[in-house]
Amino acid sequence: MYETWEELENSIQNCSKCKLCQNRHNIVFGEGSKEADIMFIGEGPGADEDTQGLPFVGKAGQLMNKAFQGLGIKRNEVYIANIVKCRPPANRVPEDDEALACLDYLRNQVVLVKPKIIVLLGSTALKNILGKEYGITSSRGNWVEQRGIYYMPTWHPAALLRDENKKIDFWKDLKEVVAKYNELQISK
Ligand code: URA
Repeated sequence: MYETWEELENSIQNCSKCKLCQNRHNIVFGEGSKEADIMFIGEGPGADEDTQGLPFVGKAGQLMNKAFQGLGIKRNEVYIANIVKCRPPANRVPEDDEALACLDYLRNQVVLVKPKIIVLLGSTALKNILGKEYGITSSRGNWVEQRGIYYMPTWHPAALLRDENKKIDFWKDLKEVVAKYNELQISK
């Protein structure tokens, strides 16, 4: 566990802990405020993210940005990361060994950011952070509190592109996040 961002970021350069390093163009480390109260965790970089080295900059990210705008969430005030930092081939789900190899980096980011709320975007984030026993369909929209952090599982934004109906849930879940954030600010 590194105590500074500099050490952590240096440690990840040239990472070859899993096979995803073979085809990547850029490591997608994460982006946003290092003092964010709210952190978003996705699955892994897609083609646009791999090209730009930034999380959620493609179609799914644009949809997420729209929801952020509508709900008054400022993208530069939250922190956004993924379960794996290198693009899985053809956007497949990261395999267990890949997620496991990468999770220490993400855990270190969580320790440094110290978010009060973590939004888990989709099944991969949910299962790797809270456990394989969780399913996204039954868990989404329901808070899970663990060691002082409130977790909100919700649909992955890419799922909204495939099924319009999920947009209503996503919006509702993020509204819950904003409400919890406001509640926690008041009780500071
Ligand atoms: N999907 C993800 O899970 N993460 C990204 O950064 C982009 C798309």
